[in-house]
Amino acid sequence: MSEFAELKFRDKVYQLPVVIGTENEIAVDISKLRAQSGLITLDDGYGNTGSCISEITYIDGDKGILRYRGYPIEELAEKSSFVETAYMVMLGELPTNSQLAEFRAKLAEHEFLHESLRHHFEGFSSDAHPMAILSAMINAMGCFQPAMIEPEDDDHFLDSAARLISKVRTIAAAAYKQSIGHPMIYPRSDLPYTSNFLHMMFSKPNNRYEPTPEVVKALNQFLILHADHEQNCSTSTVRMVGSSQANLYASISSGVCALWGHLHGGANQAVIQMLLEIHESGMSVDQFIEKVKNKDANMRLMGFGHRVYKNYDPRARYLKSACDSVLQNLGVKSPLLDIARELEERALNDSYFVERKLYPNVDFYSGIILRAIGIPLNMFTVMFAIGRIPGWIAHWRENHLNPNGRIHRPRQVYNGQTVRSYIPMEER
Ligand code: ACO
Repeated sequence: MSEFAELKFRDKVYQLPVVIGTENEIAVDISKLRAQSGLITLDDGYGNTGSCISEITYIDGDKGILRYRGYPIEELAEKSSFVETAYMVMLGELPTNSQLAEFRAKLAEHEFLHESLRHHFEGFSSDAHPMAILSAMINAMGCFQPAMIEPEDDDHFLDSAARLISKVRTIAAAAYKQSIGHPMIYPRSDLPYTSNFLHMMFSKPNNRYEPTPEVVKALNQFLILHADHEQNCSTSTVRMVGSSQANLYASISSGVCALWGHLHGGANQAVIQMLLEIHESGMSVDQFIEKVKNKDANMRLMGFGHRVYKNYDPRARYLKSACDSVLQNLGVKSPLLDIARELEERALNDSYFVERKLYPNVDFYSGIILRAIGIPLNMFTVMFAIGRIPGWIAHWRENHLNPNGRIHRPRQVYNGQTVRSYIPMEER
């Protein structure tokens, strides 16, 4: 039986349909509210707005639960590979052996860049941020596959998705090589996805880099844990841009830009900068916590807090324990990890953080792992983007295939000047 919520406004009662998700999430459908009552809803920053109905990722922010297509992320991080998880996030089901082999073959087929695309790198300044390069290059990729992809067709869709997932890895590594003035290293089709990326990042023409299994595992887990996170800022951007029927590349290129900001994916870089600052300045953790709590200082404890999680971010919980084993396996000592642990302990026992339900988010520990495996600081957010590509693709497609889909176009409450007459220049 359909359920309704009632809204009373100026002597009239409006019935609003209630929508219930498979995990019992309850929403009031206000799509007809303005037509019926003249009212719109106002929700700065969309903190309480459901922008779509989605089948991809489930989060329970109070309990600290995250699942892709029903699979708990902890189980995927333990048992799956990034390539398998990417396939499942995009297509909804785990691949069979032959489907996975076919997908891997497609990734290998698309790992090279068109020579003209490769020449784009020469146009960037050597100190360009790799996120700027990544966004520009993904958009440019659309020029090399101008025919709009047909997301309705699974094979065609998978081919375009593989092209993006594969080339993004090549572009990211090439952007890094460009930034340090080294020649680009060509991909190797014999290597699995993650090892191939590490090879392009760290091999030199005269010296082949062989990653240890621990490094490959740690990077796989990092990418799996970043594969999707429902309607966050960058994914909403991808869906918003895609809603105008913009192509996959243009939409994902916008998502990269949204991710770059330090309140979103850029936080993983900001966390390490914060830990380094504490370490190098000799400031105590207590002093730093006091600074963060002082609103006049306009500082945040980076890697803490989340719009949805009012509990420990399950990705942070996983990465925190992964930090120990990765550092131990690699024989790396990290004073930054000690500082991070101390910061966490102090914050979780401080009423400022407790009252606001601020816990470590995914970015708090991820940077320590990336640093331990040799990823340079300005590449951290690029690593996040590589992981998030499957999620963005899945959301772009879900949006595109939605029979009720419309261009995303929120409203506003206008609070500016009321009508006035133009004043000629000489009278101003
Ligand atoms: N350090 C100190 N205070 C904080 C922090 C923090 N990291 N995060 C939130 N607060 C405080 C705010 O100042 C505010 O306090 P007030 O009520 O006294 O004004 C209160 O907690 C609520 O904060 P909002 O900004 O309203 O929370 P919002 O949901 O808008 O922001 C965000 C979430 C952006 C993640 C925020 O917690 C933050 O800036 N964290 C640091 C940056 C970060 O780690 N970002 C990565 C997020 S995960 C991701 O995108 C992958």
